[in-house]
Amino acid sequence: KHFTIALVPGDGIGPEVIAEGVKVLKTIEELDSELSFSFTEFPWGCEYYLNQGKMMDDDGINQLRHFDAIYLGAVGYPGVPDHISLRDLLLRIRKSFDQYVNLRPVLLLHPSFTPLKDKAEKDIDMLVIRENSEGEYAGTGDWLYKGKPEEVVLQTGVFSRKGTERIIRYAYEEARRLNKTLTSISKGNALNYSMVFWDEVFEEVGKEYPDVTTYSYLVDAASLYFVSDPERFEVVVTSNLFGDIVTDIGAGITGGLGLATGANINPEKDYPSMFEPVHGSAPDIAGKGVANPIAAIWSVSQMLDFFGEETWGKVVLDTIKGLTVETENLTPDLGGKATTNEVGDRFAEKLKEK
Ligand code: NAI
Ligand code: MG
Repeated sequence: KHFTIALVPGDGIGPEVIAEGVKVLKTIEELDSELSFSFTEFPWGCEYYLNQGKMMDDDGINQLRHFDAIYLGAVGYPGVPDHISLRDLLLRIRKSFDQYVNLRPVLLLHPSFTPLKDKAEKDIDMLVIRENSEGEYAGTGDWLYKGKPEEVVLQTGVFSRKGTERIIRYAYEEARRLNKTLTSISKGNALNYSMVFWDEVFEEVGKEYPDVTTYSYLVDAASLYFVSDPERFEVVVTSNLFGDIVTDIGAGITGGLGLATGANINPEKDYPSMFEPVHGSAPDIAGKGVANPIAAIWSVSQMLDFFGEETWGKVVLDTIKGLTVETENLTPDLGGKATTNEVGDRFAEKLKEK
């Protein structure tokens, strides 16, 4: 089987970590004669913007359309306002390709990575499914009487029947497939339109999945439970804003941004899906060769799962778990002394031992 991958390494540590992910894919290609990948690199990002006045080519979306997947590092760098770099590249891709599912595993790889007391790997093992196309981030609103005493700013959440149902249905399907419980996180007591609707749809769709055990929490309580009692959560479904926030809590309880990954999925496969580490371009450590590539390598595992190569997806994740006990072979953010490149090389070596 052959898969075509568009590489958008982007800015700062983006290219540094993507290089290690590509190394992993090339190693798999060597080990499995049935599997091959081709890579096409796109130079888009903030440097491109400073030279060309735009984050990506005008017909960039068309250039990406026929790939099986997009593998993105990070975008954003001092000198280019974040709302330009994020909106004109990352959010444009997510929106154009209707990547309405954001899949973020919150999984403890090693007890030493959590600041929580007495937690083992099995205690923090969830899959957060975040709505990725509308909701609080729909970008709708108004700014009235700017600068006047009566100034009013409106930011409207948009929850369509189609958008809400499809993410909730996706989550039920995942919970059923994995034989896990499903928790919805919302805020129906305060957001009296959007979240009441969300809760209703969660219940309605649930009637088709009587085999799935469900829970429903308010987002404030859920945030507390993420740190006091993460064992409660298995598959989690939530809105765009709440998902953004609780998955950062998730990163906080499992070892930080160097380990957090997120897939932007178009489940119907009408368009390419995008795989990326959650972290940004980290200007403070860019160019030093110390960025942790594990989040980017975990994205490769998610990509392989999405390609239907779950066996390899699991091998990559298991190899990550194996590597995390070798503290000396990790980057400084996890207490090690290794460089980005060394972690990638060690990873490839371990993959070959499997
Ligand atoms: P950031 O994620 O780049 O960095 C936050 C902190 O975490 C920094 O101290 C950094 O050194 C550390 N860190 C991040 N990734 C790491 C890794 N792989 N290994 C070791 N340490 C790591 O977030 P920040 O500083 O808020 O944003 C920097 C730029 O990145 C901004 O321009 C922002 O807009 C952009 N950004 C882009 C994202 C994307 O492309 N998806 C996501 C988040 C931010
Ligand atoms: Mg975020």
